[in-house]
Amino acid sequence: MEIIIVADAQQMSEMAAGIIRDQILVKPDCVLGLATGSTPEATYKRLVRHHTEDGLDFSQVTTFNLDEYLGLPPTHEQSYHTFMQDRLFNHVNVDPTRVHVPKGMSADPEAFASWYEDEIEASGGIDLQLLGIGGDGHIGFNEPGSSLSSRTRVKTLTKQTIEDNARLFFGEGQEHLVPRFSITMGVATILDAQRILLLAAGAQKAPICQKFIEGPVTSMVTASALQLHPAVTVILDEAAASKLEHRGYYKWVQEQKKEEYPAALRRIAQAL
Ligand code: GLP
Repeated sequence: MEIIIVADAQQMSEMAAGIIRDQILVKPDCVLGLATGSTPEATYKRLVRHHTEDGLDFSQVTTFNLDEYLGLPPTHEQSYHTFMQDRLFNHVNVDPTRVHVPKGMSADPEAFASWYEDEIEASGGIDLQLLGIGGDGHIGFNEPGSSLSSRTRVKTLTKQTIEDNARLFFGEGQEHLVPRFSITMGVATILDAQRILLLAAGAQKAPICQKFIEGPVTSMVTASALQLHPAVTVILDEAAASKLEHRGYYKWVQEQKKEEYPAALRRIAQAL
């Protein structure tokens, strides 16, 4: 895993938007996996700016969102569908027929889940998957205990997730309004992406960031499965990185990367 520690959430969002922009520039018909939550909001804002100010073209981009609450219609103001429309899709030239958000109101969610898997495959697979992380280490809505080989399916939310999301999206004390079930890409679905970009900011994410980056791979912290993936970039702000044991090393690695390999090898050869 590549661990990049930046000063604050603003720098994290700028860097993340830059990585997504570069992906679109390199492959205009790329497939993006997208995430909701407060963490990627500023990244989407910057992507909108890349579109309006620099003409970043989304017309051939295909998107697949990670998850959705079960039981919420797409028009519900707390649905992830609405979140994505408001934060990104309504403000860029993405083709609506290429946008995929799991259906919260499907009559047969399990059948929908397997259709979603097929659609991802038919699109050629996800080139770049954006992720946040839940307080209990979930990616998507893969709560503790989710199989690391899981695919898109229905998942029951933990009480902690319900409380966290009540505060963020429904207002303090509104836990009873938060749906208890979700439809989410599985851990293995996420691991199939070519490249993965996880963002985390703020001191409240520090303990779980330490666990998923430096702890064992375990289904009890599903983000830890990212250790098995060959192309993961994690961008953390200083607060979220504050509990990492090897913080100094990750920063050192980034410092070394500033020097191109050929130059570094030349410098070593000259010194010998
Ligand atoms: C929800 C989403 C996750 C997201 C998490 C963290 O549970 N299903 O995909 O990563 O929230 O949210 P936040 O970024 O607001 O901390």
